[in-house]
Amino acid sequence: MKEIKVKKKKKLYEGKAKIVYETENEELLIQEFKDDATAFDGKKKGKIKEKGAFNNQISGRLFTFLESYHVPTHFVSQFSANAMVIKRLEMIPVEVVMRNVATGSLVKRYGVKDGTELDHPIIEFYLKDDAKHDPMINEDHVIAFGHADADEIKLIKRYAQKINAVLQSFFFRRDMVLVDFKLEFGRGKSGKIKLGDEISPDTCRLWDVQSGEKLDKDRFRQDLGKVEEAYREVHRRVFS
Ligand code: TMP
Ligand code: ASP
Repeated sequence: MKEIKVKKKKKLYEGKAKIVYETENEELLIQEFKDDATAFDGKKKGKIKEKGAFNNQISGRLFTFLESYHVPTHFVSQFSANAMVIKRLEMIPVEVVMRNVATGSLVKRYGVKDGTELDHPIIEFYLKDDAKHDPMINEDHVIAFGHADADEIKLIKRYAQKINAVLQSFFFRRDMVLVDFKLEFGRGKSGKIKLGDEISPDTCRLWDVQSGEKLDKDRFRQDLGKVEEAYREVHRRVFS
C-alpha cells in the first residue's frame, strides 16, 4: 500500500473512544483509538488495556477487506499502533445497526428470545445523540431531519447489506458469528457516500462458533471478565 506521510496537527474532535486530529493535508485526518471504554451512554466507564491498538488494527484490516469488495471507506493507511490516516468525511449523525442474531436491545424491545437466529437480517437506524439516548428512527426521520436524502439512504442500506454479507463470512472463516454491528457513514469530498468510524469489538457482537463465548464489548458491558483477552483474541483471529 502507498505510504502516506502526514503530521498530526490540531485536535478536531474527541469522542468517548476516539480522537480525530487534523493534518497538514486539508483532506486527511488522523483517527486515534483510546483504551477508554464506556457503556450505557457513558454512565459506565473503564479502560481496556491495549484496546486502542487492537481496535485500530482490526478496523484497518476490515476496511481494507471491504474496499477489496468495492465498499468505499474513509481508511487511507495505518499511522501508528493506535491511529490511522483517514479521509475527511462530512459525517451523517445516524447509527446504522445490522442484526443477524437477536440479542441486546432487540430482545429488550421486542421480547424475541436471546440468541434466536433471524430469518432475515434487520437494519435499524438510530439518531446519534447521547443526550437523547440515541433514539431509534426510520428512513423518513432521516430525510425529514435533513440528514440524508432518499438516494443516499438507498445506497447506505445497500452498503450495509453488502458489508454484512462480506463480514459474516470473513468472521465465520475465523470461527466467529457476526451477531450484530453498528456502522456510521459520511460524505467524501465529492459528496460520495463512504463508510466511516470503526468496525471493531466495540461496535460488533462476535460469538465464538463452538462455545458461544462472547468476544466483544459485551464482556465489559456485562462485567463478564477477560475483556482485554477477548479483544486480543479477535485481533489474533482477524489477522490469521
Ligand atoms: P444494541 O443491541 O445495544 O442496540 O446494539 C446493537 C449493536 O450496535 C451492537 O453490535 C453494539 C453496537 N452499538 C454501538 O456500536 N454503539 C452503541 O452506542 C450501541 C448502543 C450499540
Ligand atoms: N458507546 C456507548 C456508550 O458509551 C454505548 C455502548 O456501546 O454500549 O455509552
